[in-house]
Amino acid sequence: MNHFAYSKGQLYAEGVPLTDIASRYGTPAYVYSKQALSDHFLAYQQALSGKSHLICYAVKANSNLAVLKVLADLGAGFDIVSAGELQRVLRAGGRADKTVFSGVGKRADEIEYALKVGIHCFNVESEGELDQIQGIAARLNVPAAVSLRVNPDVDALTHPYISTGLKENKFGIGIDTAVTVYQRAATLSHIDVTGVDCHIGSQLTEIAPFLDALDRTLALVDNLSESGITIKHLDLGGGLGVRYKNESPPPIDDYIAAILNKLGNHDLTLILEPGRSIAANAGILLSKVEYIKDNGDKKFAVVDAAMNDMIRPALYEAWLNIESVVYRDSKTEEVYDIVGPVCETGDFLGKDRRLAIKPGDLLCIHSAGAYGFTMSSNYNSRPRAPEIMVDKETAHLVRARESIDSLMQGERTLPEAQ
Ligand code: LLP
Repeated sequence: MNHFAYSKGQLYAEGVPLTDIASRYGTPAYVYSKQALSDHFLAYQQALSGKSHLICYAVKANSNLAVLKVLADLGAGFDIVSAGELQRVLRAGGRADKTVFSGVGKRADEIEYALKVGIHCFNVESEGELDQIQGIAARLNVPAAVSLRVNPDVDALTHPYISTGLKENKFGIGIDTAVTVYQRAATLSHIDVTGVDCHIGSQLTEIAPFLDALDRTLALVDNLSESGITIKHLDLGGGLGVRYKNESPPPIDDYIAAILNKLGNHDLTLILEPGRSIAANAGILLSKVEYIKDNGDKKFAVVDAAMNDMIRPALYEAWLNIESVVYRDSKTEEVYDIVGPVCETGDFLGKDRRLAIKPGDLLCIHSAGAYGFTMSSNYNSRPRAPEIMVDKETAHLVRARESIDSLMQGERTLPEAQ
């Protein structure tokens, strides 16, 4: 169900009109639906009921404490890539023992912190990292549960910047050499080999690449078992795509059913790390039209959100649906590029969009709940937008708009020359 829908001629977030949110909190602003977040998570949980599993929400997609708390309360685990994300999970009430730590560049202090709080597993991406974890775990005298992130060399058929499972990508350990690395890992005093991990990319709209990766990782699990290494869990990463425009990614149910079918009677706990498929369509970016500009050849709607708030169109040429919050008669529609105030030609949120708008109107940029706020910056010294979570008829401010003062916090000029 869509929780950002028109009712009586205007767009709502659940039971709250977006116009109310704009007048209360200003624009630009991120708005999340608690119900949508929950629905997407529960779809995974229900599809996996009866199967030993752990759904580790990928914190990088949207790391707001309120988002993490909603998911933690539903029993989610978490996939983190930094000590900062781990802190967020713990502060939001998430459990360390349901948290997996991914990423190619874990620092020693981050590994130590994760060991001290007792995370579920490290997804190890290189032999150097394996040795680093062994050294720190030995010093602390605690066991470190690890899985190796293997690179199955499959084409995820997605945008090259978010494809990770090919040999040419920086991620993981080649599946051909994995057995040797596992054998060495098994000899290390403080390493406890528990799983096999892979993540082949993001915004996948087909099931086939996931199943190819699964075939290859299951073959590895069997291989390891023959050499006396028992694998307890298989982590298939995240990556299930969402509909932004006219993509038709498999529904969560179908995706899970296909995985379970292939897992057959392998006695493995299934770990997944979904981010986008939980958060993207649970959030929108609300923005106001400042000016309408006509260059003769092209019309522009200059809005108050920019690439610093939402970088996906500029970075990946991502297409996000943009609608007018208050419905206007289509007879006044024109074709606009929706652009922000940042001094870059790449600063656009949408191109060639047919809209009936005038200055002062509100726009809703859909599917902005994942990789929206988390990728935002202060470029052009723009304070970051507030985040609001709607729960039925109530809007809650879950992150305040940054102030001009906060922009310069911690900065100082050089001391005056004596
Ligand atoms: N696990 C690992 C190890 C990952 O690297 C990622 C995403 C995920 C899980 C979650 O994947 P998801 O289910 O969200 O596809 N900024 C880009 C997406 C980058 C994805 C990075 N890794 C975008 O805006 O499209």
